[in-house]
Amino acid sequence: MFKILGTGHSLPEKIVTNDDLSKIVDTSDEWISKRTGIRRRHIATVETTSSMGIEAAKNALEMAGVAPDELDLILGTTGTGLNVSPGVACSVQEAIGASCLSFDISSACSGFIAAMDVAAKYFGAGAVKKVLIVSSETMSRYADWTDRSTCVLFGDGAGAVVLGEGDNLLSIKLHTHGNTEYVGIHGARGNCPFADPIEACNSFAFMNGQETYKYAIGAMSGDIVEAAELAGIPLEGIDHIIPHQANLRIISATQKKLEIPMEKFCVGIEDMGNTSSASEPIVLDIENRRGRFKAGDIVAFTAFGAGLTDGGAIYRW
Ligand code: ACO
Repeated sequence: MFKILGTGHSLPEKIVTNDDLSKIVDTSDEWISKRTGIRRRHIATVETTSSMGIEAAKNALEMAGVAPDELDLILGTTGTGLNVSPGVACSVQEAIGASCLSFDISSACSGFIAAMDVAAKYFGAGAVKKVLIVSSETMSRYADWTDRSTCVLFGDGAGAVVLGEGDNLLSIKLHTHGNTEYVGIHGARGNCPFADPIEACNSFAFMNGQETYKYAIGAMSGDIVEAAELAGIPLEGIDHIIPHQANLRIISATQKKLEIPMEKFCVGIEDMGNTSSASEPIVLDIENRRGRFKAGDIVAFTAFGAGLTDGGAIYRW
């Protein structure tokens, strides 16, 4: 499979607090922080999905000591690009001057784990020696800023990892439970004169918060148990958990269900909100640069998202 050689992230400069949001929609710092754990988020002003992805990629490559022309594959994940195509992987390839195969994976908030799974298969087939994963999201461009129940949840940012050959990924398992109603992002409908007008709609994120909440807790806890079993690691043997950062209450409920101490969870949602597929590599890089992970530590990843998709992975640092 692979080992992580470097990590990187990028966040927009502008920070928007809960109090700032209470001037835009009928909400309060108390409601948002109590129900979600979010206190502030970074919101793109001049930054784009591509520009954040490029910065995160450069940071990861620098830490890894890998030159762009050494890369054999770039995998991008985003549901919120400025353009539907080309994908963020192609934008990053162009900007860093790489020449390898580059493409995006669409798996909503589970995108980073999905990309790790695809990378693992490429490594397993002996087709690559160095892979860059870039997850970048501009959720703010797809949030409905008149809807208090969704706009308060999201933030923007990008995370990246550089992977090399190694046997540090111990297990990875993804799931899809076809359900397009609970959560997602409407696409643009264009102006086709032949389309049924009923089809015309905005391109905003939509969500059934309570159903998504229930699904998320079962999926994240179940995926950690499954990935740990596949890796032959007992739950007590996990040193750190990097969960998708959607809501602190979802992370806490997962923690209680698994009876794993909260200190083992890497949590960054307070400062960044839900950055979809970018949330895990951002938190990974922040904690990595703080020196949290020691050689031999067992790190679990878990995510859920639209699709419905979810997955878990166990990695030995
Ligand atoms: N400020 C103040 N009040 C609000 C706000 C707000 N921002 N948003 C909703 N409310 C109100 C509602 O109108 C409702 O009022 P009512 O009782 O008078 O009708 C009340 O608060 C309760 O609303 P609920 O939706 O029941 O609140 P809940 O406790 O379920 O929390 C939340 C909502 C935070 C969205 C929660 O359901 C959740 O976290 N769900 C999962 C979200 C998630 O993970 N989504 C995935 C995101 S997309 C992705 O990651 C792919």
